[in-house]
Amino acid sequence: MQINDVTHYEVVGEIAVATLNSPPVNALSQRVRIGINEAVEKAVADPSVKAMVLICEGRTFFAGADITEFGKGKLLPTLREVQETIENASKPVIAAIHGTALGGGLEVALVTHYRVAVPSARCGLPEVKLGLLPGAGGTQRLPRIVGPERALEIITSGDQLSAQDALEMGLLDKVVEEGKLREGAIAFAEQVVAENRPLVKVREMNDKVDPAKVDPALFDNFRKAKARKFRGFKAPEHIIRCIEAAVNMPFDEAFKYERQLFEELMADSQSAAQRHVFFAERQAAKIDDIPKDTPTQDIRKVGVIGAGTMGGGIAMNFLNVGLPVTIVETKAEALERGLGVIRKNYENTAKKGRISQDDVETRMGLLTGSLDMAELSDCDLIIEAVFEQMDIKQAVFSRLDEFAKPDAILATNTSYLDVNDIAAMTSRPEQVVGLHFFSPANVMRLLEIVRADKTSKSVVATSLKLAKQIGKVGVVVGVCFGFVGNRMLAQRQREAEKLILEGAWPWDVDRVLYDFGFPMGPFAMRDLAGMDVGWDPEKSSSSTVREILNEMGRRGQKTNAGFYDYDEKRKATPSKVVEQVILDFCEKKGISRRPVSDQEILERCVYSMVNEGANILLEGKAARASDIDIVWITGYGWPAYRGGPMFWGDLVGLDTILDSLRKLEAEHGDDFKPSPLLERLVSEGKGFKDL
Ligand code: 3HC
Ligand code: NAI
Repeated sequence: MQINDVTHYEVVGEIAVATLNSPPVNALSQRVRIGINEAVEKAVADPSVKAMVLICEGRTFFAGADITEFGKGKLLPTLREVQETIENASKPVIAAIHGTALGGGLEVALVTHYRVAVPSARCGLPEVKLGLLPGAGGTQRLPRIVGPERALEIITSGDQLSAQDALEMGLLDKVVEEGKLREGAIAFAEQVVAENRPLVKVREMNDKVDPAKVDPALFDNFRKAKARKFRGFKAPEHIIRCIEAAVNMPFDEAFKYERQLFEELMADSQSAAQRHVFFAERQAAKIDDIPKDTPTQDIRKVGVIGAGTMGGGIAMNFLNVGLPVTIVETKAEALERGLGVIRKNYENTAKKGRISQDDVETRMGLLTGSLDMAELSDCDLIIEAVFEQMDIKQAVFSRLDEFAKPDAILATNTSYLDVNDIAAMTSRPEQVVGLHFFSPANVMRLLEIVRADKTSKSVVATSLKLAKQIGKVGVVVGVCFGFVGNRMLAQRQREAEKLILEGAWPWDVDRVLYDFGFPMGPFAMRDLAGMDVGWDPEKSSSSTVREILNEMGRRGQKTNAGFYDYDEKRKATPSKVVEQVILDFCEKKGISRRPVSDQEILERCVYSMVNEGANILLEGKAARASDIDIVWITGYGWPAYRGGPMFWGDLVGLDTILDSLRKLEAEHGDDFKPSPLLERLVSEGKGFKDL
């Protein structure tokens, strides 16, 4: 029988089976909670029922609380009420898990008396990724099963456990045959009944959280070890405190404390930002004029042209998912070097234990090097990653047009060049697209998919699908100088360079941006990347501070000197030499330096980015503000807890940003000219979120 539209209930022999079906991921919405509650009550009230199996239909067990219900007030029954019904049931309830039991979903499983799963199932408490903590007892029950040390790792990382690992840790009671979850769970329930097994309540298992058995230094040591990773985020510290409470307080008290800290996080802008990011990432894959059923092409073989910094990393993405790659260079030496770097990267990953030596060989076995572009004639996708020069790229594309398969996708990894001008060199511009990877290309999650004037819908749809396949987040952007990411970066870069002449030091600018949450500031970044990237000694004429530093041989970390001085351990200290270079340069240019406040640094570097983002939206180079947020979070280390530049702009208040830009425009000119979109939104009292 149906209990409600998402809950089916039936009795098989002596076992009640409640099946929940609320696509796409069986999130624990109000209807689902009502369904579970009523099913348990029904099973308890029916004397012919001896145990109950709780199972889901569709692709997964409950994937967590329904995030779309957050902030909508209390919708009864609450998850905690449903959990009480289950945990206090007078008959055993068995969770039957497939897909991903995540967050509130796993917390529901943790109040059942037994848990079974199929081998492909995964369990986790990913709330931290939403700026939250598991607020339905997860921080209290998980440590009782796996111990506080493991619980700290699992909950603060939000990573998923395989069924096998979960079984070994005692989180699961049994793993049943793949595809036979229902039968397996019913059989397990029958066994529980036959053996008269107890109603196990995790909340009563105190052995692993006994304060006498837990090293009191555990928590502070963990804090210290993870300080870098957790910098800026509030949720991890809240999680640590809850697990500490699991050890140091009685269950009921600690359970209340968990709720209190959960509510604190829920009300905080960090969680709002991280929830925004969750939905924004999924939204990015949806393009208005490209319906879901747009035909896509099969990509079975990939060609990469250029085995330099980017080409090698790009190739690795495809090798990692088992796609064969042929990589082409102009000279044997460059090819050999490129192939060597790829192998070394894999060897290093194997050394860290993240892949096996067999994996290294399998992946290298899929890679072919060549000096002849014509060998790419059977590739379904060819990505060009040669020097950033229009004439070279155009020559490559006109050559490609001669031999590439008619339906092959021809992609350029250009950072700035006009993809239309590149596509025009072929007889099939509809097959040409920009696939802009970010360095290191095998690591950074962002893929800007540059849709040129004639790029076909199928090519864009295929690119989006491919991005997902290789674990990237694809964001579709339009053709303009630097596309979305680098175009906005240029604003920050320009201001950073101006600021160090006006009165700030490079380390002031870096500190403000680091404290804002970026992994490093622009000057530290320059030192890391190499001061001489894009510097031409032939043309260098001491016309900028950077040119002078290059001329002095200060080429960044690799020479132990750049904007900073570096010791043997690569530890940076502000450089007196650089200070003098800047002072001399200012004197020569007649610039009188003045004190620059941290607030000015922040506004000039970051408000200017928000303003450029508005222009990008106005010109339709990004489809929505949240796409820009995703570009910055996944490609440039914008702190996720600030939700991306556009989300953050709304949070600061667009009126505040506009006021600041107007003042800056009066003082510094057109660089701060407010975007007409920003002006319009402020006049209408709206934000980017309302677009
Ligand atoms: N609530 C509401 N909607 C959700 C959701 C959730 N918990 N999880 C996923 N969805 C939606 C997505 O927004 C998406 O919607 P769309 O089709 O309209 O874009 C749809 O479900 C499918 O999601 P994915 O595209 O992500 O599908 P995948 O198959 O790639 O991944 C998944 C499935 C692994 C379940 C992934 O969606 C995921 O990680 N979800 C979030 C899980 C999570 O964070 N759970 C914890 C929630 S907080 C909580 O439980 C608090 C508790 O402690 C009190
Ligand atoms: P790189 O200089 O490291 O590599 C370019 C490689 O292309 C060289 O090995 C060169 O020998 C090879 N090459 C040149 N012409 C060729 C041809 N006709 N056929 C085959 N191979 C050829 O340059 P990098 O950094 O990898 O950049 C490549 C492209 O990626 C550029 O367009 C760049 O703008 C873009 N890009 C670079 C990023 C970075 O951080 N380095 C980030 C994103 C994009």
